[in-house]
Amino acid sequence: MRVVRSVADLRFARAELSASLGFVPTMGALHAGHGSLVARARAECASVVASVYVNPMQFGPNEDLTSYPRTFDADAAMLERLGVDVLFAPSDDVMYPPGAQTSVDPGPLAAALEGERRPGHFRGVATVVLKLFNLVTPHRAYFGQKDAQQLAVIRQLTADFDLPIQIVACPIVREADGLALSSRNAYLDTQQRRDAARLSLALHGVAQSLVAGNADVATLTADAIGVLLPLRPDYIAVVEPRAFVPLVTAPASSDLLVVGAAFCGATRLIDNVAVRTPA
Ligand code: PAF
Repeated sequence: MRVVRSVADLRFARAELSASLGFVPTMGALHAGHGSLVARARAECASVVASVYVNPMQFGPNEDLTSYPRTFDADAAMLERLGVDVLFAPSDDVMYPPGAQTSVDPGPLAAALEGERRPGHFRGVATVVLKLFNLVTPHRAYFGQKDAQQLAVIRQLTADFDLPIQIVACPIVREADGLALSSRNAYLDTQQRRDAARLSLALHGVAQSLVAGNADVATLTADAIGVLLPLRPDYIAVVEPRAFVPLVTAPASSDLLVVGAAFCGATRLIDNVAVRTPA
């Protein structure tokens, strides 16, 4: 595996790779969820590029940019083991050289839920992903479904800017108790780690009721807040996966997402469960 840190070196390395190229962008602190993205890219593409870059533009002023886990050596070893051809690991100066000033406005899709609670977050995500796509020029790019609204923003960005890239969504990888894998789980102490599974439990409860034909989203999500305790709820909502506008009533025969965010101590967890409502 070649590790490249500059735009020039990345372009040089990219030119030697085949057209069938899979790309896995990450912020490092890799876990088995990331591993599943790389394994899928490896299985589906002739060449695989991964990136490790903690993108400051997607963190708010009071968020965890400085404490975000950074485990570069372990990340690089894991990516090499999984057969990645090129690892792009730029510095802030490479991604945002002095004088850089253009960013991507992701539009209404980024207005609700995560976008509302984390102003500027999806602008940062869309900007860095567009830059990475332009640099790596992949044929396919792999993203986890845990960040469901991010996935929707990236799909929209790819369509709106006519990028010839297939976005591949990969299933959430969960611990045995249901907790979705996340780099931020590293912040949890032993008791918080036990409590953290409540988020997935609450979302799966709403999902089961929707599948059973209960369409009253307002009541279901209000009840689910009780299941979350002792976590501090941020939101639980039901959305269409490409629109991300909270619904009051679940339409019949629809693919929906039950999405949620909650605080476990100071750590903010997000998760979602996909459902198909009955006819
Ligand atoms: O999902 C992530 O790890 C990040 O948001 C991404 C897509 C790598 C952009 O920084």
